[in-house]
Amino acid sequence: MCGIVGYVGRRPALEVVTAGLRRLEYRGYDSAGVAVLADGVLAVAKKAGKLVNLEKELGEHPLPAATAGLGHTRWATHGAPNDVNAHPHLDDAGRVAVVHNGIIENFAALRAELEERGRRLVSDTDTEVVSHLLAEEYSACGDLAEAMRLVCRRLEGAFTLVAVAAEEPGVVVGARRNSPLVAGVAQGEGFLASDVAAFIEYTRDALELGQDQVVELRRDEADGSVAVTVTGFDGRPAEVREFHIDWDASAAEKGGYDYFMLKEIAEQPKAVADTLLGRVDDAGRLSLDELRIPPEEVREVDKVVIVACGTAFHAGMIAKYAVEHWTRVPCEVELASEFRYRDPILGPRALVIAVSQSGETMDTLMALRHAREQGSKVLAICNTNGATIPRESDAVLYTHAGPEVAVASTKAFLTQLVACYLVALYLGQVRGTRSSDDIREQVRELSRSADGVERVLSTMEPVRELARSLASHDTVLFLGRHVGYPVALEGALKLKELAYMHAEGFAAGELKHGPIALIEEGVPVVVVVPSPRGGSVLHDKIVSNIQEIRARGARTVVVAEEGDEAVVPYADHLIRVPVTPPLLQPLVATVPLQVFACELATARGNEVDQPRNLAKSVTVE
Ligand code: G6P
Repeated sequence: MCGIVGYVGRRPALEVVTAGLRRLEYRGYDSAGVAVLADGVLAVAKKAGKLVNLEKELGEHPLPAATAGLGHTRWATHGAPNDVNAHPHLDDAGRVAVVHNGIIENFAALRAELEERGRRLVSDTDTEVVSHLLAEEYSACGDLAEAMRLVCRRLEGAFTLVAVAAEEPGVVVGARRNSPLVAGVAQGEGFLASDVAAFIEYTRDALELGQDQVVELRRDEADGSVAVTVTGFDGRPAEVREFHIDWDASAAEKGGYDYFMLKEIAEQPKAVADTLLGRVDDAGRLSLDELRIPPEEVREVDKVVIVACGTAFHAGMIAKYAVEHWTRVPCEVELASEFRYRDPILGPRALVIAVSQSGETMDTLMALRHAREQGSKVLAICNTNGATIPRESDAVLYTHAGPEVAVASTKAFLTQLVACYLVALYLGQVRGTRSSDDIREQVRELSRSADGVERVLSTMEPVRELARSLASHDTVLFLGRHVGYPVALEGALKLKELAYMHAEGFAAGELKHGPIALIEEGVPVVVVVPSPRGGSVLHDKIVSNIQEIRARGARTVVVAEEGDEAVVPYADHLIRVPVTPPLLQPLVATVPLQVFACELATARGNEVDQPRNLAKSVTVE
């Protein structure tokens, strides 16, 4: 939710800031704005809509050359996405500029107080109060970082703030509470951003900032060096962790694809393989180094609870089948946004697994905090090194999908599945419910699934053709059983996100309890069929379900394993996936549904990477 960039150094600030915003646009694209500091003057430009609108504006009305500045790309919370509500926000005198991500919950009281003092606030945003408060504090103390600390102590809610002041042309100050902010450091320059992607082009050396910290980037005008100072909101020096970003700028480029989503779908075999790398030792035992929960505690676990949102929640739903089957430990899966509000039964023997691509989703963060307050251990499965969720967890297993830029998650989902399977097998290993031969075999099957995904990807042209033929439909339904049920939900979610179509996923067994009433002549229904091997009862049941919907006029799109001939007579369209062990089928069965949604969105003329109303990283509850 909202992308923020701040820069001070020797390069043209506007170029650095707009390049950074381009890489952060996945966080929101309702409006964009920049401010630069030139000759003691703050020059600002902001525009509703995507970054291109701002770039056009800057082309027509260029800002003066400068080497310090900040920028913002917005996902609106308070106030419509128009020019006035776009960030940066300034004080009355135009001497302080602020950008913000999050929600300032006590903004109404602060606004009333400012207006009483005669301040004139022009926008409907919660953010604008900060620019006025900062200006007041700054004029009293003459130090932007100190002013920021004083203001932050008065704010309630979640926020990342970055500010500049006309009087301090070589200084950029940032602050964070419950919203992401990282600093990038290089010789003679410093960066602040919501995500390292914003500055990866210039440096791979970064600093993690903790909760309730203020960071100041200050250029020494004599020797051009940039000093980074981090303190708590109370002014005490804070410890920061330095880290090196292990991917380069090209990983966050489209690399010849029309959309990031297409590239990310294509990267899935590698992402799956990378997530498995180094997880098995020479003796064939799983060694999850990052998982810092001692084996004695893992043996004590009497319940696993998975919390997540969106696509990550579907990964959690699939994990439940694996955890319970492989470990015999009860496993619950819950939407993170619902979790803490129902007073869940937790305790020291519950292992809570928080699954999150970004590691910043506020609902998931709040759920994990609640779990820790109740004494449970929390394991994060996360794709973003050093993000808040892994940092606040007891242990973390990183997925190695690389940066995911498209708002709709694809490769991160597959790697979340891999990580969940690994955790389930690890629990089975430590608790002795799986033999080492069995674990080795499952890991081998996981590795094979990377090739399986590759095979699926090479046969997608008929799926694309089918998607194009359905572009004028209003509804698509998805059915599945067992692990195919969450796959059906994920297929429907992708279609909602990207094609803006009415799409719903159902457990096929529930069909007769209501959803079958939706079936009418020509409605496309995608059915995810479990493997027929071993005389699976589920397989037979779903074949009956396909016949039931077809008899009522549905156009059936059947996703079935290679060699499954029983479905052929009832499939209007057949999508083949490679043979996998039943629990691992989601790794291959989800891929055609991603391609299907992406192609349908394109056929309907929608923005694939930046669907309307959505943001990739949802940092507000
Ligand atoms: C947003 C994104 C989804 C994502 C969900 C959870 O809604 O649009 O694609 O699945 O957040 O995100 P996380 O980063 O926690 O996995």
